[in-house]
Amino acid sequence: MDHYTVIGNPVEHSRSPRIHALFAEQTGQSLRYDRLLAPLDDFAGAVRRFQSGGGKGANVTLPFKLQALALCDDVSERAQFAGAVNTLSFVNEGRIVGDNTDGIGLVTDLVANLGLNLLGQRILLLGAGGAVRGVLQPLLETAPASIWIANRTPAKASALADDFSGDIEIMACGYDALDGENFDLIINGTSSGLANAMPPLPDDVLVPGGVCYDMFYGKSPGPFLSWAERHGASAWADGLGMLVDQAAESFRIWRGVKPETGPVLQQLRAESQ
Ligand code: ATR
Repeated sequence: MDHYTVIGNPVEHSRSPRIHALFAEQTGQSLRYDRLLAPLDDFAGAVRRFQSGGGKGANVTLPFKLQALALCDDVSERAQFAGAVNTLSFVNEGRIVGDNTDGIGLVTDLVANLGLNLLGQRILLLGAGGAVRGVLQPLLETAPASIWIANRTPAKASALADDFSGDIEIMACGYDALDGENFDLIINGTSSGLANAMPPLPDDVLVPGGVCYDMFYGKSPGPFLSWAERHGASAWADGLGMLVDQAAESFRIWRGVKPETGPVLQQLRAESQ
């Protein structure tokens, strides 16, 4: 039976094994998918041991996505844009091929599950770390009117805007520069929710009926989604759908068949009640 895993530290709370088990059941595939705790100082060794034990592929989660990129023999264009790898495929002669499915996971959740059309929209991204870098290129490909990146440390936002500059306007700023601006979609890519906090946003920064998306998820909505509810959002969602959709794209890379994600997302939500 083909063997896959998710590698991280910590990794015990990862929902990927459950998601891939549901995909396997849905598509009639026979596979095994576990969790692998890699030592913080030996990610490469953990990957190599899994690979030489016959592993076919692995998802990579925090804090190893940058190291995963460095370990690969071949890397997809989208992983290069993201500067990180979340999907490893172990192919012939011990070679490792890397991809990044996080961005397509977010865009699929926004477009297919939430029914948004991002064409011509004004998008605000909060944060300028790896999470935001990973989704910028796929978001730009949806042809929004503009993307603003606001960050506590504005220089990091500026560096991202420079790296992704092209046909679509990208603005970088600190939170105070958002006064007087408004956006159709606000995506939280900061880790502020971990501290039960959120970036300081002006009250009218979301257009009436706009949408808010938190790339992270937890048992209950964090401060950002509570803010969305209080500030006139017509819809808001946490990042569980993104997690399921990035997993579906990894599954497609490995197995050649793309699972339907809607029923799996519903099942996971029901299980976390
Ligand atoms: P990751 O790679 O997972 O995105 P990161 O590179 O540490 O992690 O980035 C975390 C992001 O959350 C950064 O944009 C960080 O802002 P700074 O670049 O100014 O550090 C942001 N962040 C973390 N805690 C925050 C808080 N309490 N308020 C606002 N932004 C916060």
